Amino acid sequence: MDNRVLEKMRSDWNGRAKENAQYYVQSERQNWDRREFFRSGEINVANEVMTDMIAICGGRNSPLDLRMLEIGCGVGRMTRMLSRIFGRVTGVDISEEMIRQARENTSDLQNVELVLGDGCTLAGIESNSYDFAFSFIVFQHIPAYSVMSSYCREVYRVLKPGGLFKFQVQGHTDLRRDELDTWVGYPVSQRDAVTLSEESGFDIEREDGAGTQYYWLWFRKLA
Ligand SMILES: C[S@@+](CC[C@H](N)C(=O)[O-])C[C@H]1O[C@@H](n2cnc3c(N)ncnc32)[C@H](O)[C@@H]1O
Repeated sequence: MDNRVLEKMRSDWNGRAKENAQYYVQSERQNWDRREFFRSGEINVANEVMTDMIAICGGRNSPLDLRMLEIGCGVGRMTRMLSRIFGRVTGVDISEEMIRQARENTSDLQNVELVLGDGCTLAGIESNSYDFAFSFIVFQHIPAYSVMSSYCREVYRVLKPGGLFKFQVQGHTDLRRDELDTWVGYPVSQRDAVTLSEESGFDIEREDGAGTQYYWLWFRKLA
């Protein structure tokens, strides 16, 4: 793994979090009203998670029995709502400042755990222990394919057999960018998606939005 990429991701996201975390988390507005900001997270959870409960729960479990992992939790914008749906939620982020603010924003929630990550692995997180992993508007900023590939292998490791990893990547493969750009991330093609799944052991259960900013992938760890 290229340490320059990891260091650049951490320092850029710490800088953004200190400057205006809410704006860099959800750039629709410069000055968010706090309630509106968390409401935007609730809407994203309603659209991207609650509409998908059959795939997530496999028709077997109540979500309250499930343990979920959110990669790139930011300041907890979606984490708050996720904690009302799932039994236990772990949020991981590369930025100390994002995690510090997320801790403040979720201090009233008993079932949320926040972890400062190294930006490419899930070191310290137990294998075969999660039912569902999720990531939204995070991989679209990751500049290197190798970081995504590392995360996919790590998510495969920490999911229980049968578990689902649903995540969104940047799918605009004609975007111009440089290798250390932590805003416009590595664009994932359909071929990349197949390679990511094969390298990590996942089956691609579904994909949607190839070629767009919101390219969603559903990776299943087969039971
Ligand atoms: C645009 S924000 C989105 C936050 C959250 N997913 C949400 O929707 O509210 C992107 C987040 O991803 C985090 N991030 C960026 N690169 C990361 C990496 N390699 N590993 C973990 N987190 C990362 C940033 O620190 C930031 O908190």
